[in-house]
Order: sequence, then structure tokens, then C-alpha cells
Amino acid sequence: MNKLITFEGIEGSGKSTQMRLVARRLTQRDVPLLITQEPSGTDIGRKIGGILFNREHHYMCAEAEAFLFCAARAQHVREIIMPALNQNKTVLCDRFSDATYAYQGNARGLNPEFIKVINDYSSMGLKPNLTLLFDLPVEVGLKRATDRDNLLLDSSFSDRFEKESLNFHNKVREGYLNILKSEPGRFRLIDATRDVDTIQQEVLRHITEFISQSNC
Ligand SMILES: Nc1ncnc2c1ncn2[C@@H]1O[C@H](COP(=O)(O)OP(=O)(O)O)[C@@H](O)[C@H]1O
Ligand SMILES: [Mg+2]
Repeated sequence: MNKLITFEGIEGSGKSTQMRLVARRLTQRDVPLLITQEPSGTDIGRKIGGILFNREHHYMCAEAEAFLFCAARAQHVREIIMPALNQNKTVLCDRFSDATYAYQGNARGLNPEFIKVINDYSSMGLKPNLTLLFDLPVEVGLKRATDRDNLLLDSSFSDRFEKESLNFHNKVREGYLNILKSEPGRFRLIDATRDVDTIQQEVLRHITEFISQSNC
């Protein structure tokens, strides 16, 4: 059985923070691991991300956006994720297909059947085996993301998605929760309003349980 674990949630929900911390813990336990992210998990994906996140591209149509994320995923799955799964590594991926359904489907309004076609093709039909959904009110997530960006050298930094309206981000959140309702077995809902350490304990518990079950 594959061990593809995805981290999902709105901007500022703590995905990257938790992934970094749990990767350190798992590495200390000698778990064979690959940590990666979308869309920038490959050189090609990073270049595609440059187009996607550029604030000057505010007029990008939803279809182009969906195709670009899927192009990055096609490369990422074939170049990075599949080879790691084939070496029996546990793959931790910061965002994957669910993000396309939540952002380009629920929030941008693209037909989920269209998304399914392009996503299944780009992901080679690969589905996450476990998905941690970091959930919190969008106002809290966006405030955290803005505070994080303000610490960067370029304090004006914030990408095209962070610039979207509260309504947009609420639709993303709702989109994620809808997927969770339709596939409860794959998801673990994480209350991301709590402190980093408390969340980390829960994340580690879910991942450890999953790895020990999949090794049986
Ligand atoms: N549980 C938490 N409570 C408070 N701040 C947090 C928490 N988790 C992460 N942060 C901070 O919020 C910001 C966004 O976290 P990040 O992990 O980058 O989110 P994401 O990857 O989901 O966009 C960072 O500055 C991070 O240090
Ligand atoms: Mg992040």
C-alpha cells in the first residue's frame, strides 16, 4: 500500500509549520521519508508557481489556473512522488489534488467533473492514503499568513491567492469540508486554532497510527 500523506487547508492554517515539525520527528525515528509540496515540488513546478502566484496575473482565468496546477502536478507525480512511493517511502505532501477541487472547483466555480478529468490525468489516478485537513476561520488563517509575510525581507509580499476576498477563502474552506464529508475515512480534521505543540502531537499521532497500520 502506498503511503502518500497530504496536508491541506486554507492559507495560514499551519500546514508547512506542522509538516516541517513532523518530518523532523519521523526522521529521528528513521522513517524513510520524502517531504514535498505543490506546485513547487520540482524545478518545473517552481517556474509554474511563479506564473500562478504572481499578483500581476490577477486576470488569469480559472481554466488556465487549473491547467497550470495540474501541469505542475503531472511533473511532480512522475518525477518525484511515484519514484519515492515505489521505494516504499512515506511521502508527506503540502497540498495535492484536494486543493484543486477546493480552490478551482468550489471557490472559482469550475465544474468538478472537468477538474476530475484533468486531475486524474495529471496525478495518474494517484490518491492520498491519508489527508490531514487543518481547519480554522479564514480571518485567523489570513492574519497568520499576513504576519508571516511581513517578517519576510519584502514586507509587501503576499501572493495572488492571499489577495483574494474573505468570501473566496470561505468557499475554499467550505470546499475542503465538503470533500471531507464525502470521504471521511481518508481525512483527519485538525482544529488548527490551537497552539503549535498541541496540534503537532495530534499530527504525529495520526501519522504514526497510519504508518503502523500500513506496515501490517
Ligand atoms: N498553531 C499556530 N498558532 C499560531 N501561529 C501559527 C500556528 N501554526 C503556524 N503558525 C504561524 O502562522 C503562519 C502561517 O503558518 P504556515 O505553516 O506557513 O501556514 P500554511 O503553510 O498553512 O500557509 C506562520 O508564521 C507560522 O509560524
Ligand atoms: Mg505553506
